[in-house]
Amino acid sequence: MKKIISKQIVFFGGKGGVGKSTSSSAYALTTARKGQKTLLVSTDPAHNLGDIFHVKLSGKPIALTDHLWGIEIDPDEESKRYLTGVKKNLKGLVKPKMIEEVHRQIDLAGSSPGADEAAMFDRIVSIILDEKDSFDLIVFDTAPTGHTIRLLTLPELMGAWIDGMLKRRESMNENYSSWMGDGEPVEDPIYDILEKRKERFANVRKVLLDPSQTEYVFVLNPERLPILETEKAIQTLEKHDLNVRTIVVNKLLPNEETGSFFQKRKEQEREYVAWINQTFDQQEKIYLPLLDGDVSTMDALEEVSKNMQKELYFQS
Ligand SMILES: Nc1ncnc2c1ncn2[C@@H]1O[C@H](COP(=O)(O)OP(=O)(O)OP(=O)(O)O)[C@@H](O)[C@H]1O
Ligand SMILES: [Mg+2]
Repeated sequence: MKKIISKQIVFFGGKGGVGKSTSSSAYALTTARKGQKTLLVSTDPAHNLGDIFHVKLSGKPIALTDHLWGIEIDPDEESKRYLTGVKKNLKGLVKPKMIEEVHRQIDLAGSSPGADEAAMFDRIVSIILDEKDSFDLIVFDTAPTGHTIRLLTLPELMGAWIDGMLKRRESMNENYSSWMGDGEPVEDPIYDILEKRKERFANVRKVLLDPSQTEYVFVLNPERLPILETEKAIQTLEKHDLNVRTIVVNKLLPNEETGSFFQKRKEQEREYVAWINQTFDQQEKIYLPLLDGDVSTMDALEEVSKNMQKELYFQS
């Protein structure tokens, strides 16, 4: 079967430690080597793309190698930038007497649970909408499963939340207009800001839900827990209309090893691989062998990339 991932946006998800960063980096390196201008983005607060490529990354694209750029989104930094933006948007809209209290409230909201995630999501939205045209493809290396599922389902939640806010402002505005006497609608700048955000979320949702633009790849190892977790994650994402069509089965034991220890492990692995093939019969599978050391150098990454290329068919 032909295994093609030629999408503009590719997300790599999976359980902790299975090889998301390794697979996404290898995939990005593969597309870059094919001359596609690639942007590799880490949304994991515990970043390690910088360690894999030995380049210090930040919130803006930095060159990793030919045709390949990287970004590590820092939730703290994004959260701060996000709150500064909110405060700036409110400038001139709030009475000067109130500004201190409003800022205090915003800072409070900024330290509440979920705020970092919202800021992270805002940055993902801006990367997808603003960088999509500057790159041939954007590859996302994500944090372990739970975090990523929340992140990917945020546009839906945020859309509903903004709708509620818009309705509240509409009724406030109606009341306000009627108090003013002539019933003429008054300009509501906050309404406009919310409308714009809603539009951006709706646009990003369209991209994320469009299988011709976005691909979700789940990485797992031939072991019981990653299989179970991946099965659950795929079902959850499907409920949100996000379809995972590719699975990377990483860290397969080499065939050439002998000895009873390896034979026994290999036997167990065969059972797990059979289970994977049966459970994920709707998905394309990319099989990657375990290397004899960590993937922490460019040479090792090249090797993973070569193994990946053997498994992939690229549409030109
Ligand atoms: N095919 C492989 N062969 C050998 N080592 C590998 C392979 N794939 C990944 N590793 C190693 O396994 C460890 C975990 O890989 P990686 O960091 O890519 O996983 P992750 O899913 O991104 O982890 P996290 O959930 O912590 O982000 C790393 O030390 C990496 O070098
Ligand atoms: Mg990682």
